[in-house]
Amino acid sequence: MAASYAELTRHLLDETPEERAVLALFAELVLAQGGGPVVDVGCGTGRITGHLRKLDLDAFGIDLSPEMIDVARRDQPGVRFDIGSMTDLTLADASVTGLVAWYSLIHIPDGAISSVLTHFRRVLRPGGPLLLSFHVGDASKLKTEGYGGHPMKVHVHRRQHDQMIEWLNEAGFAVETHKTLTSAESKLGGIILARRQP
Ligand SMILES: C[S@@+](CC[C@H](N)C(=O)[O-])C[C@H]1O[C@@H](n2cnc3c(N)ncnc32)[C@H](O)[C@@H]1O
Repeated sequence: MAASYAELTRHLLDETPEERAVLALFAELVLAQGGGPVVDVGCGTGRITGHLRKLDLDAFGIDLSPEMIDVARRDQPGVRFDIGSMTDLTLADASVTGLVAWYSLIHIPDGAISSVLTHFRRVLRPGGPLLLSFHVGDASKLKTEGYGGHPMKVHVHRRQHDQMIEWLNEAGFAVETHKTLTSAESKLGGIILARRQP
């Protein structure tokens, strides 16, 4: 499934200028903070990590799935990719300047989001930008097949911006901008750019 996912998503960014624009804004904000490490949490096959590196960021990736990490290491030789969970991030406090979670919080149940965002705040330097994308909506579903017809068992949670912003504020983030894209895989894609409060 990881190899199919890489094939199916490899060109997605080429087709979504809005996503490239927000990633470019994120990169500019990181560089304005003096640069430094950027972590792509739930990096999957590393397509966003690779894009961030093309934007001159010192980006590395973390993902729960060893198979996704294998493909990321194959596709982005020389780039750091670690196996790990965002529910228990082992990065040191204030060790990254920026953090991206691109369509990965969608797999985290409501009850664990606050804990994950607390980890995000802990590892980010004060003022560091946080970029999230997610599927907009109310329903959650259990995905049993996908990415080329492979069987899987993965929960996908759709959320509204208001809920995400409330969780972010409670975790110590200030939301700077948010938007809804209709171009993301023909579904509603939510994007939020926030910053770690001091
Ligand atoms: C829809 S994919 C998105 C991958 C990548 N960000 C992209 O945009 O191509 C979601 C990814 O989140 C990862 N994931 C799910 N739960 C995770 C967790 N608790 N910690 C880290 N990664 C997780 C999955 O393994 C998967 O690679």
